Amino acid sequence: MSDLHEQVMAALGTVIEPELHRDIVSLNMVRDLEIEGDTARFTIVLTTPACPLKDVFVKLCNEAVIGTVNGINKLDIRWDSQVPQDSRIHGRLNVPMKSIIAVASGKGGVGKSTVATNLAVALAESGAKVGLMDADILNPNLPQMMGTGVGRPRVANGKMVPIEAYGVKIISTGYLSDPDKPMILRGPLLHGAIRQFFTDVDWGELDYMIVDLPPGTGDAPLSLAQSFPLTGVIVVTQPQGVAVSDALRSVAMFEMLKVPVLGIVENMVGEFFGAGGGQVLAEERNLAFLGQIPMQAEVRQGGDFGRPVVVAHPDSEAGRAFHDLAQAVAARVSVVMLQADNVIPIDIIE
Ligand SMILES: Nc1ncnc2c1ncn2[C@@H]1O[C@H](COP(=O)(O)OP(=O)(O)OP(=O)(O)O)[C@@H](O)[C@H]1O
Ligand SMILES: [Mg+2]
Repeated sequence: MSDLHEQVMAALGTVIEPELHRDIVSLNMVRDLEIEGDTARFTIVLTTPACPLKDVFVKLCNEAVIGTVNGINKLDIRWDSQVPQDSRIHGRLNVPMKSIIAVASGKGGVGKSTVATNLAVALAESGAKVGLMDADILNPNLPQMMGTGVGRPRVANGKMVPIEAYGVKIISTGYLSDPDKPMILRGPLLHGAIRQFFTDVDWGELDYMIVDLPPGTGDAPLSLAQSFPLTGVIVVTQPQGVAVSDALRSVAMFEMLKVPVLGIVENMVGEFFGAGGGQVLAEERNLAFLGQIPMQAEVRQGGDFGRPVVVAHPDSEAGRAFHDLAQAVAARVSVVMLQADNVIPIDIIE
């Protein structure tokens, strides 16, 4: 490495990643530095393609290098991304998934499936490889909400091929059963069905597996949350007090199970249910507040007609809120993975 290379790297080593609070060189985010004339060209490898901080990095890198390193007057920054690997997933499931994120709630009907679908689609739009699993085995809603209908998945090489919509790979018991008949499955079978959804489905490589859980803190969500390694959970609540009390129980359950709570989402914010309950809960429990989603007819229509609002009305208030939510969740996933002892992040240089 030339002197100039070393000086540029040293200067970039003063740039702190705003979410992870570590410098971008020791995080191994700076790669392939080349110097041509007075230009330093390098790639920044983000921890998620859904990173909203590119402009911030450009500014911070310029401030760190230009005027500090003699002979360099220009930066040419390229972008790449690599979601960190949650190592427990390999240990326990042996599937090529980087992270598994559950969407949960204390109370039913608060918008878990709506959040799960819009989050999955928004992450896929950012360029991530995304899977979406309906762990609401008995009341599957994802086939309708993702507009796929209930066609059967193909089987290839002994594995089920997930159904794809809006760039997201989906599996649901809705694809495997008669849509008009109730499904009757008891605890151990539920457990087994979910495990099979991980191991007997040909997911390919995934950056984010989003799991839509059934509501509450009863048997089903509890045993599901224990049947696979979870990188983190998002707890959805409506703003009103009753929903918030139930969300608190859900948070407590995941804390007992030692599943990291990525944060709280407040859904259906507006005149009807009010606003602010989710944020207060986050503050009281010292959790991240991931965002507010307004109560809007377009959101409900998106679910009913199988075109999530992030696709159907990306510029509506709710569309933008879900887009921002995806970025907030992706950032929290990176943070949680880099904080956890049992997780091997992207090859960090110590
Ligand atoms: N922000 C919103 N604005 C308007 N309607 C919404 C919003 N969020 C969800 N809905 C609607 O509310 C209903 C319940 O939402 P959803 O099915 O996502 O909740 P859930 O928590 O998954 O329910 P369950 O506990 O039964 O699984 C759906 O009809 C959905 O379209
Ligand atoms: Mg649901």
